Amino acid sequence: MVMAYGFTQYGDAGTQAMLDLPKPEPGPGQILVKVHAAGVNPVDWKIRSGLLSGAMTLQFPAVLGREVAGTVAALGPGVERYEIGDEIFGNTGAEGGYTEYTLVRTDAIARKPPTVSFIDAAALPVAAATAYDAIEQLQLRAGDTLLINGAGGGVGAAATQIARYRGVGVVGTASAAKHGFVAALGAMPITYGDGVAERLHEAAPNGVTAILDLVGGDALREVAGAANDSHLIVTTADPETAASLGGAYIERGTLADTLARIAELAAHGSLSPHVQELFSLEQAGEALAAVESGHAQGKVVIEMM
Ligand SMILES: NC(=O)c1ccc[n+]([C@@H]2O[C@H](COP(=O)([O-])OP(=O)(O)OC[C@H]3O[C@@H](n4cnc5c(N)ncnc54)[C@H](OP(=O)(O)O)[C@@H]3O)[C@@H](O)[C@H]2O)c1
Repeated sequence: MVMAYGFTQYGDAGTQAMLDLPKPEPGPGQILVKVHAAGVNPVDWKIRSGLLSGAMTLQFPAVLGREVAGTVAALGPGVERYEIGDEIFGNTGAEGGYTEYTLVRTDAIARKPPTVSFIDAAALPVAAATAYDAIEQLQLRAGDTLLINGAGGGVGAAATQIARYRGVGVVGTASAAKHGFVAALGAMPITYGDGVAERLHEAAPNGVTAILDLVGGDALREVAGAANDSHLIVTTADPETAASLGGAYIERGTLADTLARIAELAAHGSLSPHVQELFSLEQAGEALAAVESGHAQGKVVIEMM
């Protein structure tokens, strides 16, 4: 049997529980992974709450989490690119990540570089891959300026580093407590809330080339005027508001290819997930609560002992 942490029905955190589940068996194209670490993301509580139930079918009890790093433990029929013992990281889809063993598909993983820890690798597949795809979509060039709305969280920290690596200037909204963190990543921090449009105008008097929004709603409306071209507003959080402003939802690339690019960036030190909090599997509820607060800094990770 395998120890996991999940939820027994859609609802609030009260539906979460430790689970004792049979070890999964890999089907065609699947790999069984011995999980060393699992990343925690806002999508985990959104799935638990039922917000995304129209887009995916789950069986209960369901294991929480979408991203892991670990070691290949068994290969399903037809898997040729990987061998038992390979170190990988990637997206688990509905199989879940807060568990000792999970299943992944070969098109949703990449090899973990030996110089990147399991803990860091587990925190890259959702946030950094999203950030990478967003910056590709915006086709930013050296000398452009990107406003990241919500720069201090998982996607924001990764997007800041990828943009800076490409020579793009970054202005990032964040609470005052995160200004030091955001500045250390290479962005100019701006406090969000009342007066943010004026503060942005002072920081970027000629406007910004593009906006990557990670918050949505009023927080997006308040900063949208800074974009010189409203078509270059993309969001991970609120497609309706972005569309009403002339922008768009992010487009996702082929996951395995994006993860391979991210692995290269992480291996040569240009991208770190900035893991700020580490929890055990028994503490997975606390880990998810830290992210569900909406004010995480960098990434939160669960380490399997
Ligand atoms: N569609 C996709 O493929 C995809 C993929 C990844 C993420 N997402 C979504 O993208 C969003 C961000 O994800 P994440 O992993 O970066 O979340 P996260 O790590 O929880 O970070 C969220 C950040 O937003 C900041 N924030 C909160 N309220 C704000 C406001 N009014 N103005 C500016 N910043 C504010 C918080 O910082 P402060 O403490 O400074 O408030 C926090 O650092 C989530 O909604 C997530 O579900 C979508």
